[in-house]
Amino acid sequence: MKEAAQTERSILVCGGTGCKSSRADQIIHQLEKEVKHHHLENRVKVIQTGCFGFCEKGPIVKMIPDNTFYVEVKPEDVKELVEEHVCHGRKVTRLLYVDPETSDVIADSDHMTFYKKQMRVALRNCGVIDPNQIMDYIAHDGYQALHKALTKMTPEEVIKEIDQSRLRGRGGGGFPTGRKWSFAKKNTSKEKYVICNADEGDPGAFMDRSILEGDPHSVIEAMALCGYAIGATQGIVYIRAEYPLAIKRLQKAIDDATSYGMLGQNIFQTNFHFQVQIKYGAGAFVCGEETALIHSMEGERGEPTMKPPFPAEAGYWGQVTNVNNVETLANIPVILQKGGEWFSHIGTSNSTGTKVFALAGKIKNVGLIEVPMGTTLREVIFDIGSGIIDEKAFKAVQTGGPSGGCLTEKDLDTPIDFDSLIAAGSMMGSGGMIVLDEEDCMVNVAKFYMGFIVEESCGKCTPCREGTKRLYELLEKITEGNGTMADIDTIRELSHMIGDASLCGLGQTAPNPVLSTLENFYEEYVAHVVDKACPAKYCRALITYTIDSHACIGCTACARACPSQAITGVVKKAHFIHQEQCDKCGICYDTCGFNAIQRQ
Ligand SMILES: Cc1cc2nc3c(=O)[nH]c(=O)nc-3n(C[C@H](O)[C@H](O)[C@H](O)COP(=O)(O)O)c2cc1C
Ligand code: SF4
Ligand code: SF4
Ligand code: FES
Repeated sequence: MKEAAQTERSILVCGGTGCKSSRADQIIHQLEKEVKHHHLENRVKVIQTGCFGFCEKGPIVKMIPDNTFYVEVKPEDVKELVEEHVCHGRKVTRLLYVDPETSDVIADSDHMTFYKKQMRVALRNCGVIDPNQIMDYIAHDGYQALHKALTKMTPEEVIKEIDQSRLRGRGGGGFPTGRKWSFAKKNTSKEKYVICNADEGDPGAFMDRSILEGDPHSVIEAMALCGYAIGATQGIVYIRAEYPLAIKRLQKAIDDATSYGMLGQNIFQTNFHFQVQIKYGAGAFVCGEETALIHSMEGERGEPTMKPPFPAEAGYWGQVTNVNNVETLANIPVILQKGGEWFSHIGTSNSTGTKVFALAGKIKNVGLIEVPMGTTLREVIFDIGSGIIDEKAFKAVQTGGPSGGCLTEKDLDTPIDFDSLIAAGSMMGSGGMIVLDEEDCMVNVAKFYMGFIVEESCGKCTPCREGTKRLYELLEKITEGNGTMADIDTIRELSHMIGDASLCGLGQTAPNPVLSTLENFYEEYVAHVVDKACPAKYCRALITYTIDSHACIGCTACARACPSQAITGVVKKAHFIHQEQCDKCGICYDTCGFNAIQRQ
């Protein structure tokens, strides 16, 4: 056994939140035990990494140096993995990825369609390094950018490099980062602050969480670089408290960076001092808005205020403050290492670099992806995402979260960049991307986002506080089959009013999902109102379940499953649904093995 394992190897196991919830911790524990059992602990290292992105197929285990990528691994598989792969050099075929299109068994992630069109810049270390080991980060060029900046560059030169990269903020607004830094540098105050915005409130979004879980040092390094560039000595990460794993790893990274001299006093023996601390948010969407975030940090209610003044003029405790998003910051060290020029050649002319998206919804490959700006929606959904689940028809893709909109078939060739998405009627937002299929009702999608906004509005200004409630009620009226054509007009009018009159970005953009569904799926609204029908057969109040007496063989399965006792019939005879008793739960539809239940 011993002689079989001659080479040094690492076994990388995803320790992201997704894989941890599928027993990744147990896999790591078993691997360590098994490696020890074979006396290989000096040759084989078991490393817990951040998310590999392919969460749909997690837990992921990757063998280095041969890059074998195992998917959906269970603790029970570990013994075989070590004995076969590590000891005998034989791949465990049953745990390799099978391409759903070609049925090819693929051993190496580079050859998987999910990864082929991706480019990892912000996620460069996620799934590669152990986020708990500062030495692992250092071994992957970590803190080199900070060293270079502090010892060889002036703050102006640092900002110039970021300017040259033409990096735009990834938190949603897309403001040029170099320009933001130069405002904060130019403005003066007694103290200056660097804030990392890790609030991440968009439904379905987990980009920032994954970066902090998988590569916390790159964010810390970037904050220190920003501090040096603008003249700040204090960094604060504002993170929602429901990200415990990200918080734990971040705190360890801060502690380690401090004890290794990358944070604290006289960093790299220069006269630059910088420290980072964490502040928790309670998880309110509005607290991601920078002025609300600052108020929340000051112990006030998380309500936004009018801009100007911008944080770069008067932010935290009235001092000059630079607020950047996690992903924006994750790009910074590599820009300084490889140069702004290098970064500016990735992506499109107006949107340089890459963008991380959390791909979710009715898509085969749910996960975290990073693509060069300019990649089309079609490539993301059908190549990287492998298309729609159960071969259903693609209906729309929602980008930009509650501030964005739904794009349709006609937009699939839109390149993903800040301007093209806006021109198509949506926006980039922070990177949530939710794919919808033929069974999604667009009025209901609009209602979902409006419901979210009603919950999350801080209530400070009337158009947002009251207007979004009224919008929600009107949408609800339509999905319940009680809407009128006049209601559709009111929805449109009210949407424009809320957008124009609200105080902050939350209210200003809140009607976007409604307006975009109205624009692209007007006939679906009309069908609900005029025909009292939901074309996607989703809205409960507008659908009817019946039994096709020719197809029904009288197996009784539906009658036994129906929680309302709405189905009657005898064995081997066609069954019948009593409409007045049916509460339209759809259980019979899912239960019938003979396609005898019809949904209209
Ligand atoms: C309602 C609302 C919520 C926001 N939520 C976030 C968030 O969760 N994370 C984030 O980085 N930016 C969020 N933003 C944008 C921030 O206000 C700010 O523009 C951003 O953090 C700046 O960083 P960037 O330039 O690196 O993108 C939000 C804005 C609004 C209006
Ligand atoms: S727009 Fe909404 S979230 Fe923003 S300040 Fe007004 S009430 Fe608060
Ligand atoms: S939809 Fe639900 S309540 Fe109605 S008949 Fe089927 S199982 Fe019963
Ligand atoms: S959490 Fe494991 S691959 Fe994403």
